[in-house]
Amino acid sequence: MRGFGRPVRGSDRGSAPRPGFNLAERAESLYPVTMDSAVQSGSADEELFASIAATPIASVITDPRRPDNPIVAVNRAFCELTGYREEEIVGRNCRFLAGPDTEPEARALLRDAVRDGRPTLARMLNYRKDGSAFRNAVMIAPVFGPAGGIAYFIGSQMETGEGEVDLEARRREAAGRVAALTPRQRQVLAHMIAGYRNKQTAGFLGIDEKTVKMHRAALLTKLGIASSAEAIRIGVEAGLEISGAG
Ligand SMILES: Cc1cc2nc3c(=O)[nH]c(=O)nc-3n(C[C@H](O)[C@H](O)[C@H](O)COP(=O)(O)O)c2cc1C
Repeated sequence: MRGFGRPVRGSDRGSAPRPGFNLAERAESLYPVTMDSAVQSGSADEELFASIAATPIASVITDPRRPDNPIVAVNRAFCELTGYREEEIVGRNCRFLAGPDTEPEARALLRDAVRDGRPTLARMLNYRKDGSAFRNAVMIAPVFGPAGGIAYFIGSQMETGEGEVDLEARRREAAGRVAALTPRQRQVLAHMIAGYRNKQTAGFLGIDEKTVKMHRAALLTKLGIASSAEAIRIGVEAGLEISGAG
């Protein structure tokens, strides 16, 4: 394992805020995250890692380029939800939350989505460190590297009730929020969900990267959230896809 364990806090990064990054910077002190020290400052990877620090929703980043797709970053909300400390989580496959009564179909759904490199949402029984079970609505989405292959998966975990009801309510709410975006913002969000970075999205949409970043910032504001990780979750819950995003 390459140098994990460097705690990344606002003070590590110098004081000059980067444009469009202020919210994440501010939230980071609330939800610190440990980042791979190989991640370059100011890079797209750094933004990805910062995005899970900037959300109050339990989130992880995994690296499918390493054996068994281990977790490489986790936020505080994930530790609070599961009862595990960060050092007990990083380096393991997310299946450590599964247990005797975890539904095999939900596991298969996630396994197939990882194999195919596509986003999905699965509801399953998971277990905290103290052995207590909880219903977990897991969202996963791929993130491409600059060369095209999948570099990471981003995942978020939400405790849900026993019935289907609140998941359906979240779906409806997410669909309403996505419908309120402009067509261009929906297209950009659909590309984020599919795992494309700003530069790749710019190429697909025939606009420049700066414009993609502008739409990205605007859609976060419109959704009332601070992090792209959360925007991806909302888009996946809403069932947004590139083909229907116009
Ligand atoms: C980003 C990401 C997040 C995941 N989160 C969870 C989770 O919270 N709970 C869980 O049981 N499985 C989770 N998984 C799924 C497992 O890692 C694994 O893919 C699944 O158990 C199927 O593989 P297996 O049959 O080899 O266990 C996640 C996968 C990824 C890629």
